[in-house]
Amino acid sequence: MDRLPGFRDFYPEPLPHTDVWSADARNYIFNAWRGAARRYGFREYDGPPLEPLELFTTKSGDEIVGQLYNFIDKGERGISLRPEMTPTLARMVAAHERAYKKPIKWFAIPQLFRYERQQKGRLREHFQFNADIIGENDPAADAEIIALLIDSLRALKLTEDDFVIRLSSRQAWQQFYQRGTQNAERGDDPARAYEFYQIIDKLEREDPAVSRTKLDKLGFNYDDVTGFIAASQPTPELQRVLDNLAARGLGGFVKIDYNVIRGLAYYTGVVFEAFDKKGEFRAIAGGGRYDNLVKLMSGGKVDLPAIGFGMGDVVLLELLKARGLLPKFDAGVDVFCLIEDETLRAESLKLITDLRGAGKVVEYSFTPSKADKQFKRAMELNAANTARIERTADGALQVKVKSLRTREERVVGFADVAGAV
Ligand code: HAM
Repeated sequence: MDRLPGFRDFYPEPLPHTDVWSADARNYIFNAWRGAARRYGFREYDGPPLEPLELFTTKSGDEIVGQLYNFIDKGERGISLRPEMTPTLARMVAAHERAYKKPIKWFAIPQLFRYERQQKGRLREHFQFNADIIGENDPAADAEIIALLIDSLRALKLTEDDFVIRLSSRQAWQQFYQRGTQNAERGDDPARAYEFYQIIDKLEREDPAVSRTKLDKLGFNYDDVTGFIAASQPTPELQRVLDNLAARGLGGFVKIDYNVIRGLAYYTGVVFEAFDKKGEFRAIAGGGRYDNLVKLMSGGKVDLPAIGFGMGDVVLLELLKARGLLPKFDAGVDVFCLIEDETLRAESLKLITDLRGAGKVVEYSFTPSKADKQFKRAMELNAANTARIERTADGALQVKVKSLRTREERVVGFADVAGAV
């Protein structure tokens, strides 16, 4: 039985095959994400992996709707696996916002599902770190979110040489669009605006001749568009974000780049994407301001501005691997308890339990086994120490602890073993 295409099996290291993913590396990344979010004062939330289909067809945009993993359930409901977390977050906040002081700062690490063509950096499921600030429209919140994005990557030992945040603004593009729309045919047609944004979103990947033709059709000049991008003149709002980040010493991690416009339909202001600096990989993370989504999800009842980002584990892991930044993972055994004298198994089990009670990672052999076999297993597990109970000539019991790093062995009292390992 094979797994479905685009889905992953996570094994403990050492990995049995190149085709599987590391559960240890996944934990390592999750811990870094959680740690960074906690340091910024974000609280963790979660929602259901299955949602009513309409939650995602309302405002995410055509691209993601085309990738939905949706079906009819046994109760005849149209439902979908979540392709992103933001609509769920907007729904949750809208339902109970009064119970929380603003600004709300929340994070989650959901597994998400998109029926995409499997390719490098893109699978049909991924885990995505989401961090969002709701209820604050000052650019200080935008800067805080971007600083968290930077710090969650720095927590994984990535530096200014490894990644950059490309910062842009939907408002800047909206103004550009409006300037080119006066007297234009279909000027007030929202579909025309949407088409325009789609062309900008694809500009870097598309053949320039194709983009030129498409823009011409909408009444825009290709050179005006590329000229606007090349000038990369920050809007006053983007300038405030840049200044805020510079004050933190994080100015080197960001640059204005109007190529970024973001595919999702709900963004309203500042938008950004994180990329590896060599340009070898797809986007590491993406996000932006979405000031109308909570209102939309609440049927107009709750109106709160919001900004956030999502960072996937797939590209991130590829990047960490490529830069040699993943630590070596093993079982992290502190003590392997050798039971060489089976008459001492009961005492050994007591010692093992006490050591575990003191927070140590302890391994031992379940069944009687030769001393050299037990020692070999301790070595295979890369245990830091062995401990073994011995009966002395006068019948008393003592514990011998041996460091497998220095090979030094010493006798310690039962109560002192945990401190010695
Ligand atoms: P997104 O740009 O669609 O944004 O996804 C964010 C990140 O998730 C991407 O940069 C990428 O790292 C990862 N990702 C997306 N799709 C896949 C896939 N099929 N396979 C592997 N990784 C993937 C959002 O989802 C927004 N909801 C983020 C957000 C939160 N905006 C505001 N708050």
